[in-house]
Amino acid sequence: MIIALTGTPGTGKTTVCDFISGHSKYRKQYSIINLNKLILEKRIYTGKDEKRDSYDADMERLRELVVQIIVQTRPGMDIIMEGHLSHFLPADAVIVLRASPVALRKRLGKRHRYSYEKIKENANAEALDVILVESVERNRKVFEIDTTDTPLLSVVKSVISIIESLKKGKTPEEFLPGRISWIEQVEQ
Ligand SMILES: Nc1ncnc2c1ncn2[C@@H]1O[C@H](COP(=O)(O)OP(=O)(O)OP(=O)(O)O)[C@@H](O)[C@H]1O
Ligand SMILES: [Mg+2]
Repeated sequence: MIIALTGTPGTGKTTVCDFISGHSKYRKQYSIINLNKLILEKRIYTGKDEKRDSYDADMERLRELVVQIIVQTRPGMDIIMEGHLSHFLPADAVIVLRASPVALRKRLGKRHRYSYEKIKENANAEALDVILVESVERNRKVFEIDTTDTPLLSVVKSVISIIESLKKGKTPEEFLPGRISWIEQVEQ
């Protein structure tokens, strides 16, 4: 099964995947593709947005490269593509990590490269469900996990439980979109 693990920067995608690949119990079953790392290492971008200090990924080349990696992955393994662009790639299901804008501002505030403007832009994108909406527009199977006051292990277990339910043909109802709303946390 191919899963896109997406979410606004700072929601904890890499932290979850580092945990999974750091534990032999999980590492045997789940293969992680870190899209941000791939984009930088293989220079899969068309340019750099200097104002935002971010790269414009070449989505066509990224898709081709990810397909190549997936083809080479041991059969039977589940693939988790992680990154805030992963929901633009073909996947069996999308898992969106969420964090309240207030929590996100705190998390991103620790990133020295992130300007005040960039933090605000991300916190407001989260408040307005931007990635969730983009995901729902592209994939019929979308689930969301609130990481705000949730220990890492619990987030990891939720990700695994969604994947395992889907593999059994079940819908993980408790993670269906619509229960999380931050609209009151939008800032000017
Ligand atoms: N469940 C959690 N509870 C509290 N803090 C968390 C949790 N998960 C991650 N964090 C913290 O949030 C910050 C951002 O996490 P991380 O780098 O994994 O986000 P990301 O989604 O990969 O962001 P990006 O899209 O920019 O790569 C880190 O400081 C991490 O320690
Ligand atoms: Mg990351």
